[in-house]
Amino acid sequence: MSREGGDGIGSTSAMSARVVGNPALAVAEPVVDGPTLSADCLTIGYGGTPVVREVSVRARPGQLTAIVGPNGAGKSTLLKGMAGVLRCSSGRTLLGDDDVTNLTPERLIRLGISYVPQVSNVFASLTVRENLEMGAYIVRANSKQRIEELCSMFPDLKSSLHRPARTLSGGQRMMLALARGLMVQPKVLLLDEPTAGLAPMVVEAVWEHVLAIKASGPAVLVVEQNTRRSLRDADWGYVLTNGRNNLEGPGPELLADKDLVRLYIGG
Ligand SMILES: Nc1ncnc2c1ncn2[C@@H]1O[C@H](COP(=O)(O)OP(=O)(O)OP(=O)(O)O)[C@@H](O)[C@H]1O
Ligand SMILES: [Mg+2]
Repeated sequence: MSREGGDGIGSTSAMSARVVGNPALAVAEPVVDGPTLSADCLTIGYGGTPVVREVSVRARPGQLTAIVGPNGAGKSTLLKGMAGVLRCSSGRTLLGDDDVTNLTPERLIRLGISYVPQVSNVFASLTVRENLEMGAYIVRANSKQRIEELCSMFPDLKSSLHRPARTLSGGQRMMLALARGLMVQPKVLLLDEPTAGLAPMVVEAVWEHVLAIKASGPAVLVVEQNTRRSLRDADWGYVLTNGRNNLEGPGPELLADKDLVRLYIGG
């Protein structure tokens, strides 16, 4: 059931994390053509003691990769480091074979890495359309056509294109944040707690969109407050504790790990 060792990423922390289930799933050829985003032994902090220490994760195309762990474990910090928002003091981030460590967020977006933070993910005073246009500004994409495509994916937005984002409901705002992140047709989408603070019915709707996005091809790396749901649907999950890799494996098999459920999920 479990064994020592990572899935070949070659980092010391991945080597010490416990792996549950069938690791072959992690090294299976991706069903979709696209690059894998790999964090290899990243150390990240805010100036003092690092809060993410030698963490390694991989997000494969066409797969949902979930990062779970207790509050303060360093999940958001890890995403920020991979998105270029925070500087990594050691380790590497690779997009396919290309080293993209510590590139600016703008350059990472041009390379196809889109990041949707948990807060401040839309401009409240701009309209829905303006927010979407801003999402494509960096790559100077054909925003008109892309907005039409995204409006059919997110019908709620279609009727709200001229409304300021501040007038949207929480769920609609998150849909807008997702759509904004998709304007650049990313190869990798990094999502920090996309369902946090939403009403239960809205949570399901947003989560269905997350699953539809991954089915459309990009690698989706998500930090989620609802550990049970995110692991249920995750092709691969990572448990971070105290800023370190602790456990990894196919999401449903992590959910079958009694210790994990007792310590980090409950119920
Ligand atoms: N801007 C900041 N400056 C200094 N320390 C920070 C900052 N943001 C987060 N931290 C600290 O870094 C650690 C990890 O925080 P992080 O937000 O990455 O955790 P998390 O796993 O995302 O937690 P949560 O589940 O609550 O979102 C915490 O101890 C937190 O207090
Ligand atoms: Mg967080």
